[in-house]
Amino acid sequence: MRILFLTHSFNSLTQRLFVDLTQDGHEVSIEFDIADSVTEEAAALYQPDIVLAPFLKRAIPDTVWRNHVCMVVHPGIVGDRGPSALDWAIQRGESEWGVTVLQADAVMDAGNVWATETFSMGVEKKSSLYRNQVTEAASKAVRSAVVRYLDGGFQPCPLEQWPNARGEERPLMRQADRKINWEADDTHTVLRKIHAADGFPGVRDELFGSPCFLFDARAEPDRAGSAGALLGWRGHGVVRATRDGAVRIGQVRRIDGEHAFKLPASIAFASALESLPLLDDAGADGIRYEEADGVGYLYFDFYNGAMSTAQCRQLLAAYRKACARQTRIIVLMGGEDFWSNGIHLNLIEAASSPADESWENIQAMDDMAEAIIRTTSHLTIAALGGNAGAGGVFLALATDRVWARQGVVLNPHYKNMGNLYGSELWTYTLPKRVGATRAESIMHNRLPLGAAQALRMGIADACIEGDMASFRMEVKKRAMELSLMPDHGEHLAAKAEMRQREESIKPLLLYREAELAEMRRNFYGFDPSYHYARHQFVHKALHAWTPRHLCRHRDIGRHIQRVNF
Ligand code: COA
Repeated sequence: MRILFLTHSFNSLTQRLFVDLTQDGHEVSIEFDIADSVTEEAAALYQPDIVLAPFLKRAIPDTVWRNHVCMVVHPGIVGDRGPSALDWAIQRGESEWGVTVLQADAVMDAGNVWATETFSMGVEKKSSLYRNQVTEAASKAVRSAVVRYLDGGFQPCPLEQWPNARGEERPLMRQADRKINWEADDTHTVLRKIHAADGFPGVRDELFGSPCFLFDARAEPDRAGSAGALLGWRGHGVVRATRDGAVRIGQVRRIDGEHAFKLPASIAFASALESLPLLDDAGADGIRYEEADGVGYLYFDFYNGAMSTAQCRQLLAAYRKACARQTRIIVLMGGEDFWSNGIHLNLIEAASSPADESWENIQAMDDMAEAIIRTTSHLTIAALGGNAGAGGVFLALATDRVWARQGVVLNPHYKNMGNLYGSELWTYTLPKRVGATRAESIMHNRLPLGAAQALRMGIADACIEGDMASFRMEVKKRAMELSLMPDHGEHLAAKAEMRQREESIKPLLLYREAELAEMRRNFYGFDPSYHYARHQFVHKALHAWTPRHLCRHRDIGRHIQRVNF
């Protein structure tokens, strides 16, 4: 079947549905919601069986929904309507929420129901909820809706006939609804308000007398102070007292000042660093090591999976310590939401010389990748429970084994960021895994891959089902079994021997130097594409067109074959 995605952007949910439906054998093309006339043109060119709107901020033009079956993915239970579905669900403390696939008609989110799925909710950030439970539920609901459409005969259910629909129409959540009353709100309420606005739009507030938006909050147990007072710095975050405790705010977007984009609080308010005490040395913020049964587990939970120069260096130091332990295996666990998304583009954008900071950051990433590849004391595993993109994927490929959770989406390419060449020793690791021809097409196609595809292609070595908690349990079980293998020593010896052999054919340094020569051109050369793309990405510039590799309906004569694995 031919499915046209009409979407605000190719975000994580849209990518996951793209991966799933392509795997199910459908042909998917994508058009960004730029203008009604562009949408109409896309539908006319592609003649889709279904138009699917996975992430849309405006209504579908009636010329399109009247002539095509248009399905809208709404992140709410049946009957819920409005643009702030998850925000209200989190603020109201719902314990069960859902995703509904509706047929588009004249009233937004009020069309007939094709499919719906529910999930339970705890205390989560909106961004995390969206990337995990909402994405899983949407994947199931969309697949059911498509099967129902294909089977024919299914009549989507009018909302008013849905039994016991408890959803309601709710307005756009405004900053007035999000406002924190620092004197009156307890920690739980403050967290709910900030979580309901993470990663967009944040809660408008004030820090150090400057207006800003707050993100990335967590409770700070065992701390308290006069309600609303700033207590000190912890890692990158600033700790603020609530009525009955304290929260740490990790990220802020300032409204004044030159950098009006999300940054770690300690960077956004660097001039206020001296004004508050350092509560403890959480310099290695987000990095955690644990050990069991001969296996070391290194966690690195960096906001949005972005790895700054300092974070890479801290991670490398932690990795070296892990290598010095009497264990047999090291598992790189990544973070809760992402495994890694490569160099920290926001910090680069904020640097006095973005070119210099890009250069420092990529060297620090490369140091980490090289250290992993050169490890002969341990077997190394990357456990990808969350998504990974660009350099983050190639950091994972530096390990001996890549185990991916079935629901993750990988973007093993760099070119979307202004034709960036990429480093992290990908020219060594990728062809070694998939062969030179396939490596070239992966880089060229710039498409997301699901874990099962990655396994088939040789990018991953295992695809493990389940949510994050069960994935991590299974990873620990498998890692422990590996560590108990009696032939572990032989495996290590073979690994060391292979590394030596490959080093004698072409030293790692040569791969690294060649990649960095290209990166130097990207950062310092006359072509500003990377700097422009990074600026647009960090400032969340609206798309003016759909990238050509996504809108296959615009391929001239539609003769270009996409290779699915
Ligand atoms: N540096 C800083 N922030 C990053 C980042 C990076 N490398 N990668 C992602 N983010 C941020 C996004 O800006 C977004 O921020 P928000 O919380 O303010 O919305 C958030 O992480 C989630 O990213 P988003 O693009 O919405 O996630 P996604 O799952 O839809 O898409 C990617 C994933 C990997 C395709 C996309 O984030 C991406 O292209 N990232 C850049 C990767 C890159 O080029 N790295 C540099 C080369 S190594």
